[in-house]
Order: sequence, then structure tokens, then C-alpha cells
Amino acid sequence: MNTSSIILAIESSCDDTGAAVLIDGKVLSNVIATQKVHEQYGGVVPEMASRAHIQNIVPVVDVALKNAGITKAQVNAIAFTQAPGLIGSLLVGAGFAKAFAQARDIPLIAVHHMQAHVLAHFIDDPKPEFPFLCLTVSGGHTQIVLCRSHLDMEVIGETIDDAAGEAFDKTAKMLGLPYPGGPLVDKYAAQGDPLKFKFPPSNMPDYSFSFSGLKTAILYFLQKQKKENSSFVEDNLADICASVQHTIIRSLLTKMEAAAKALKIKHVGIAGGVSANSGLRKAIQDMANTNGWQAYIPDFQYCTDNAAMIGITAYYKYLKGDFADLSISASARASWS
Ligand code: KG4
Ligand code: ZN
Repeated sequence: MNTSSIILAIESSCDDTGAAVLIDGKVLSNVIATQKVHEQYGGVVPEMASRAHIQNIVPVVDVALKNAGITKAQVNAIAFTQAPGLIGSLLVGAGFAKAFAQARDIPLIAVHHMQAHVLAHFIDDPKPEFPFLCLTVSGGHTQIVLCRSHLDMEVIGETIDDAAGEAFDKTAKMLGLPYPGGPLVDKYAAQGDPLKFKFPPSNMPDYSFSFSGLKTAILYFLQKQKKENSSFVEDNLADICASVQHTIIRSLLTKMEAAAKALKIKHVGIAGGVSANSGLRKAIQDMANTNGWQAYIPDFQYCTDNAAMIGITAYYKYLKGDFADLSISASARASWS
């Protein structure tokens, strides 16, 4: 085969085991094994996640290679999520990738998970133009990222406490919905009135966010309402979900709009698990239309954690010859390079 790069990418930062194969930056396969075991506990249990990664990683890689029609011998670089995430989960992917790189004597590429969420925008067309401003909203992060090029990124604002995904998941938990609750809040919100109940928006200086006040406000609101009507949640589920979702989206996009205007950026996007939210997808498109900007909204399969985004990031690093040494270790927390 006459190719310049065939990259096998591994994602194992949290509770999903992913593997993808890319040829010259084009995704040939993208496989994800979702760990159902955590649902009964209402959140991810780190030790169980590590064990499930150990069980899943070899079969997931096998399927990714098979779906791509690529053999192990054809792979000429291997990438993995190096940080941030659950350390026991990251170590499984890191160990696998290092062993693969050593056995095949091919380059090893270490990828930052949050950079990969942003670069998921470069998997399919249309690709954003630079400078590009990306709102990355996941279960663990809420960041406004200024991208000057594929690998030159700067976090210009982030949450000081809960992430946007956590705000969705904790709301869902208070409403008695199963984990992960974000998609369910989205589903019920579609039938509700977003202005029915008022909740406090994030009110922080500069481009920072805070969602812990919202969580407390929802808790007290529900306690008070349930005292007066024990079936308040069941009677008002759609309106509560719509109102909370509206508050989170307004908090996020108020800052995004201010940042884009201040920096004179016309290409804006959303990334991360919460970018699958239908309200947020519509709201950023509306915001872009109003301002004459171009909005980039990723395909659903590239919003939540996936290995294709690790692969596309690795592809840009491959082009620059940015390879990792076998002595590299996974890291639960890591600042951006
Ligand atoms: O990026 P991701 O898959 O994992 C992390 O890196 O955290 O994001 C997962 C988060 C969870 O909090 C989940 O509830 C949220 O994304 N999420 C959503 C939706 N789909 C996933 N939140 C709101 N609406 C959705 N449709
Ligand atoms: Zn993620």
C-alpha cells in the first residue's frame, strides 16, 4: 500500500474503550466499547473502569483493525490518550500502546484528551478556519479554547468548579434519572418550557465559569417544591429539564459570544460530550447566524469520547514528527503543552 501514515489510536481516559485506524488523517474505523457496569452505581467506578479496559482493549483493537482492513504489520504509528483522565484507565491504554510501539518498532504518539476533543472538528469537512474558538464541554471540563493552528491552542477560560456535563448529570441525579443523565435531560427538555423556572446563571468575571451554585439552587428548589407537592418532579419533569438546560446553555454561550467578539473570531464551535446536546447545538448555530459567524458542530459520534479524535490529533503530531519516548507515563492531570 502506498501511504504515508497509518495510525492506530487508543482512547481509555474514562469509562469507554476506543480504538480507531486512520490513513493519512482519514478515519477508516472507529470502535467504542461502552462500559455498562457503572450505570447501577450512578457514576463511573474507577477500579471497575480499569478492569473493563483490560478486558476490552485487545478485542476493540482487533475489531478496529478488521473494520479498517489493516493488519498490525501495516500500522506505522500508535497513539494513545496520555492525559487527563482516571489514572487506572489511562494506564491500560498507555501500557498497550507502549508495548505495541516497542514490539513493532514504530513511533509512539502521546495525545492530550482535551486537545483531541477540539481537533475532532478536523475529522470531517467542513474543517474550521483559524483562528477558531472552541467551547469544549464534557463530563470533566468546560473550556473556551483559542486555536491558532492545529497544535497551537490556548485555554482562555474554564470552570472553577463543576463541568457543564457534571451540571447536567447532577441535575439528572436530583431528578431521579439514571447515569449518565445528560442525554436524558436533553430528551425531556425538548418537551418543556425553558423559561418556566428561573435558575441562577454562572456569574464569573472574565471567561471563567462556575456551575456549583446552580447545583445548590436546584437542590433547594426541588426540596421546597416537593414539600408542597410530593409529585412535583414527575408533574414538571420536562419544564425543569428545559429550564436547567436553558440556564446552562445561556451561561456557556454568553461567555463564548463575548470572547469571540473581543478576539474578533468568526469561526466558532463546540466539542466534548455536552456538544451532543440538541439545545446547545441549536443555540450556537443561532448565535453564529446572528453575528454572521460560521458555527462548527461535530458529528454525534465525535462529540462523546472516541478514538478517532485521538487519531486525528496524532496525525497532526505525526506530520510534525512529535513522537513520545517509551519512558513516557500517563497522567491524571496535565496542563496543555
Ligand atoms: O466528552 P465525554 O464523553 O467524556 C468526558 O471526557 O467527560 O462527556 C461526557 C459528558 C457526560 O456528562 C454526559 O452526561 C454529557 O457529556 N452528555 C450530554 C449529552 N450527551 C452527553 N449532556 C447533555 N446533553 C446531551 N445530549
Ligand atoms: Zn472527553
